[in-house]
Amino acid sequence: MKPSLRNNLAIALGLLVSAVAIAQGISSYQLCRAGMSALLDLRLEQVAVRMRNGLAETIPATPSRGSQPSRDIVITIRKPGAEVPLRSTDPSLQLPQDAPGGFTSAQVAGEGWRIYTLRDEGTLIQIAQRSSVRDELERETALTTLWPTLVLLPLVLAAVLLIVRVSFRKMNQLGNEVQEIDAAHLKPLPSAGVPTELLPFVDSINRMIVRLAQSIEAERKFIADAAHELRTPLTALQLQADNLQPHIVAGNQERFNELRSGIARSSALIAQLLRLARADAPLSGGSIAPTDVSRVVVEAVADVLPIAAARSIDIGAEQMVTDKAAVPAADVAIAVKNLVSNAVRYTPDGGTIDLSMRTDGQTIWVEVTDTGPGIAEELLPRVFDRFFRANLDVEGTGLGLSIVKSITQKYGGDAVIRNRGDGRSGVVAAVIFPLARAQAERNAALDPHGREL
Ligand SMILES: Nc1ncnc2c1ncn2[C@@H]1O[C@H](COP(=O)(O)OP(=O)(O)OP(=O)(O)O)[C@@H](O)[C@H]1O
Ligand SMILES: [Mg+2]
Repeated sequence: MKPSLRNNLAIALGLLVSAVAIAQGISSYQLCRAGMSALLDLRLEQVAVRMRNGLAETIPATPSRGSQPSRDIVITIRKPGAEVPLRSTDPSLQLPQDAPGGFTSAQVAGEGWRIYTLRDEGTLIQIAQRSSVRDELERETALTTLWPTLVLLPLVLAAVLLIVRVSFRKMNQLGNEVQEIDAAHLKPLPSAGVPTELLPFVDSINRMIVRLAQSIEAERKFIADAAHELRTPLTALQLQADNLQPHIVAGNQERFNELRSGIARSSALIAQLLRLARADAPLSGGSIAPTDVSRVVVEAVADVLPIAAARSIDIGAEQMVTDKAAVPAADVAIAVKNLVSNAVRYTPDGGTIDLSMRTDGQTIWVEVTDTGPGIAEELLPRVFDRFFRANLDVEGTGLGLSIVKSITQKYGGDAVIRNRGDGRSGVVAAVIFPLARAQAERNAALDPHGREL
């Protein structure tokens, strides 16, 4: 089991409280028994003194059988050495006549007795009480002192658990917020309401987030600038190649075509790099106009219709959903068009591409299903990696799906891809956008710091 501060604290405090309660219980039990024993002794002594002071006559010389409750004390008054006592509440009980003055404990008639002996002017007064009766009285009284502890202990334990839980709630909340941090969501942690002990952690995490955001942004800017700078000389190169075309002799035509397609590949790579740098740019804030995704889908299909027709690929869109996404139209278009362009590129001539839409109340899905070769299962988790290409026979930069992932995740959506599950070869690639309606409802439920109200 992983060490947990909260559990350790709760267990330590629980044990401590229990140990204190047990120690307190034992000491109050023992103190009470000792107090009770002293009280009973005092009672014996008081009875003896009253007997000496002339109350002995109240005791009948021969008590009627059963007139003394067995729990109570036995009083015996005799002349020292006399076999038969002058008066006794239980004449059959032979208390030890040689007992020293004061309190003694002795075994008489097979039972333990506590005896108070008083010698006074030739009279021996002995007051005795059964030890078992005393024990029972002491135990009964002492046990009653344990009740408050027994009732309070579970309550105090529950209070300890509650206090520990509440104290660690902020920590758990922070832990969840730290877990949500990734390159696409570099938001500083809120420091309002954070306990002082945790503030240094929150401050250093926030400083780290700022530094990380700065270095990611610097890297993104460098890629964008480099791609931008490379675009101009490449366009010039392309123009010069176009101008040279009529002057290339027939024998060199093939090599010249390779040169031109090399330039075209480089241009495509640079264009994708620029798109990726734009997709990685953090959100500028401000409200996003909701986008009618179905219009983008229709547009994406229309864009590739000529190529699809030329290759006898049957492409169509069905199950259109009218809900709007909380993503700018330009970004929805880049994401959807990338999936459609992949489908067209990897589907062999005569294949079929279906676009469909659905919504689950929170998000809106656009799925592109093709009849291409599919993707090897072990390579599927890597197709969203930058520059990763699962099929090296077909030309591509390996950046398209990274752009799609980056755009969708930036707005709280996602992109997923899987092989068809209906027995046919091909993939089902989907982009998921948050619904504008659901986003508005979520924002209404948050305070100005982005926390739940
Ligand atoms: N519909 C598909 N069918 C089969 N394989 C696909 C499909 N879509 C993507 N892939 C595989 O995933 C890889 C990554 O796709 P991605 O779109 O990122 O790059 P690309 O298509 O190679 O290049 P780019 O889109 O940047 O021009 C592709 O190289 C291809 O192997
Ligand atoms: Mg692609």
